Amino acid sequence: MKGNELRQAYLQFFESKGHLKLDSFSLIPENDPSLLLIGAGMAPLKPFFTGKLVPPCHRITTSQKCMRTGDLENVGRTARHHTFFEMLGNFSFGDYFKKEAIHWAWEFLTEVIKLDKNRLYVTVYPDDQEAYDTWHNDCGVEESHITRLEDNFWEIGEGPCGPDSEIFFDQGPEHGCDDPNCAPGCDCDRYLEIWNLVFTQFNKMPDGSYEPLQHKNIDTGAGLERLASVLQGCKTNFETDLIYPIIEATAKRAGVTYNEDPNTDVSLKVIADHARAVTALISDGVLPSNEGRGYVLRRILRRAVRHGRLLGIESIFLTPLIDVVVDILGPGIKSIAEKQDFVKRVVQNEEERFNQTLEQGLELLNSLIDTLAAEKATVVPGTEVFKLYDTYGFPWELTEEIASERGFTIDHEGFEAAMKEQRERAREARVKEDAKVATPDITFLKDEELLEDEAVTASSVLMIGKGSERLQTAADGDEITVIVRTTPFHAEGGGQLGDTGFIVGPMGKVEVHNTKRLPEGTVYHIGTVVEGSISEGDDVTLEVDTNRRAAMARNHTATHLLHAALKKVLGEHVNQAGSLVTPDYLRFDFTHFSPVTQEELDQIEALVNEEILKATDLAIAEMSMDEAKAKGAMALFGDKYGDVVRVVEVPGFSVELCGGSHVGNTAFISSFRLTSEAGIGSGVRRIEAITGRAALNAAKHDRLTIERMAGELKTKAPQVEERLHQVLAEAKETAKELEQIRKEVSAAGAADIIAGKVMIGDVAFVAAAVKASSIDELRDLADMGLDQLNGSGVVLVGAAMGDDKVNFVCKVSKDVVAKGAKAGNIVKAAAQVAGGNGGGRPDMAQAGGKEPAKLAEALKAGGEALTSMLQ
Ligand code: ALA
Repeated sequence: MKGNELRQAYLQFFESKGHLKLDSFSLIPENDPSLLLIGAGMAPLKPFFTGKLVPPCHRITTSQKCMRTGDLENVGRTARHHTFFEMLGNFSFGDYFKKEAIHWAWEFLTEVIKLDKNRLYVTVYPDDQEAYDTWHNDCGVEESHITRLEDNFWEIGEGPCGPDSEIFFDQGPEHGCDDPNCAPGCDCDRYLEIWNLVFTQFNKMPDGSYEPLQHKNIDTGAGLERLASVLQGCKTNFETDLIYPIIEATAKRAGVTYNEDPNTDVSLKVIADHARAVTALISDGVLPSNEGRGYVLRRILRRAVRHGRLLGIESIFLTPLIDVVVDILGPGIKSIAEKQDFVKRVVQNEEERFNQTLEQGLELLNSLIDTLAAEKATVVPGTEVFKLYDTYGFPWELTEEIASERGFTIDHEGFEAAMKEQRERAREARVKEDAKVATPDITFLKDEELLEDEAVTASSVLMIGKGSERLQTAADGDEITVIVRTTPFHAEGGGQLGDTGFIVGPMGKVEVHNTKRLPEGTVYHIGTVVEGSISEGDDVTLEVDTNRRAAMARNHTATHLLHAALKKVLGEHVNQAGSLVTPDYLRFDFTHFSPVTQEELDQIEALVNEEILKATDLAIAEMSMDEAKAKGAMALFGDKYGDVVRVVEVPGFSVELCGGSHVGNTAFISSFRLTSEAGIGSGVRRIEAITGRAALNAAKHDRLTIERMAGELKTKAPQVEERLHQVLAEAKETAKELEQIRKEVSAAGAADIIAGKVMIGDVAFVAAAVKASSIDELRDLADMGLDQLNGSGVVLVGAAMGDDKVNFVCKVSKDVVAKGAKAGNIVKAAAQVAGGNGGGRPDMAQAGGKEPAKLAEALKAGGEALTSMLQ
């Protein structure tokens, strides 16, 4: 029985048991972020199992395309591992259960495809007596052919799961291992698992818990390739008619023979498996990229190309293999039959691209490993893994595989770090790139009619440029410029930033980072190919980031309202001097010759908000310049306008010439809020403001701040101001009291100082060691001391400040200066004793020393100096 006939027989059998036959679902999961790719027949049916959706029939049967990449390194090395395979399945959603599922599986195996009963074995979950009895009593499976297995419980990510029962086919001891305990469940190839019956009764939740399902269900899966290999008496799945023709074609192309050399066989099998996977993925719409599913595809495709190289194939070989795959699978899988040419184009692009760098990359890696081996190292550095990835297009998994063939591992962390750094660099480079006008010569477009139309969603690519070079095709990773026939993207201009979004073609996707206009008017898009490729002539869909644009439209219309409000409040002399409209805020520069008062700002803000509340429809029209002027449109001085101008009017409030994005009605702005006002040059001022969501968020932020403040002040928000005044008044009172206390303490201190007063002749002299923490304080003390001496005399104070600093201040009253006393010399004499120096005016001087221990001695020296001055 051929593979296609087997698929047919299975589906027909279950149709005869009341099942609805459905086509295979796409490999790309729908509405299921928990899965990257479909890996089981039940995966696309999850919502029917959980009861989220009502199935079209309570019994369904499919042959589902599946991808599993968890065991990639086993593919080609065992008889039964694949990335892509088909899973035959019959499903019951709250309809039949265990008994029927077992009966029908047995009937199909032993009566329809007539497998030898003696070679069939089953396993059951240890507690599942019902399954055991059904196999044994109803189907007549001998006890020696039934094993209870603890790991008979099946689940895939979140969703329906439950205990299961597996059916194995004994391929004969020649396929087995030497383990005397070899039995169903052993890893070797003797007992081949051909069918799994899951008695689905739980739903695995995102938190890992299991909830019982409302209805009991059946989910079964039988590997089409495995069943075919059993039926066709093949040693491995690869020799069935579902795969072998691919091996044959590859062997012929490489000039090698299958089944002669184990290494050659691995490569042939890898290529055969991957050719099928690549065909299935691309026909379901996956395109090569460096992310997600696209990366899985790229990894597999490039791995196949490298195995071609191992077989000695130097040029394109995978592309023509697609025809072989489609010949085999097309009759049974609609999507594959329909997309043959498309798949080949995508594969060819990717294969050509990788071929350009594969040789050099391999050479680099091999010589690197030689060098590392000589140094007795065993790890390939992350920077090198990254270089191979970035420059030579080697998925890191491929580098890891090649390295491990030579006994090496790779430095994952280093690779991740290098990758992160490159992303940063790319972001910075993009900012710079955006600043330049960089398209190829576009004179070849001079006869094309290029249009702009916000409403358009589809158009075609007229030009792709990379710097000044014109490209036919750009591949993922390329930073490019694109011109399309009709664009809905708004170009940067009039202060408004360019639109962003996506340009999606049949073979790939461009992320648009900016939209600009060439000097002669043509709009071009600046972006990165993020998936697959894009070519001149491609029909594309155009997806503008409309949320971002709506935010800019709010800010742009608000800018016009602001401009009009400024004229009304400040006067007609106000003119626009610059403007920036971004999704986050607006900035408006204008001529005005004095600061704008808070009252004026409040008026301006209120006027704009009044216009928003009026919910006025905007009127946007194209007309001649004369008509526009007649309407009173504000044209910007110095700007050039064509014969036909676009006039944006908020009837009754503002009329401007403008090419930008606007809201349809002022109410869409929702709210306007000034955030800053300042002068930025002579006669020019700048206002910044926010609208819409940003204004609402700012209000919320303020409210939360006030609530937090109220909390700290132990009150509620409405009372916060009152409470704040209270707290401030208290603080003021406290400060006053503190000042008073300080004065009293100082006066007491001064009284202490003059307690040591001596008379030198008729001059009162005080020398005191005091406590002070700064020169200022010391000076105050000296002043107070002199006051206490009724303004006549000499005061010398000294204070230790820390372990190695001592300071002195000396004050001499005028009358004593007249008698020959000099404050400078007194402190100098004192400081010198304490290991320092200093000086100053005759009436007041300060000095410092380094030896606080000598303070008393120093003060004495100061007194002696004074005595000698007065003699
Ligand atoms: N969902 C079950 C499996 O994939 C049938 O094995």
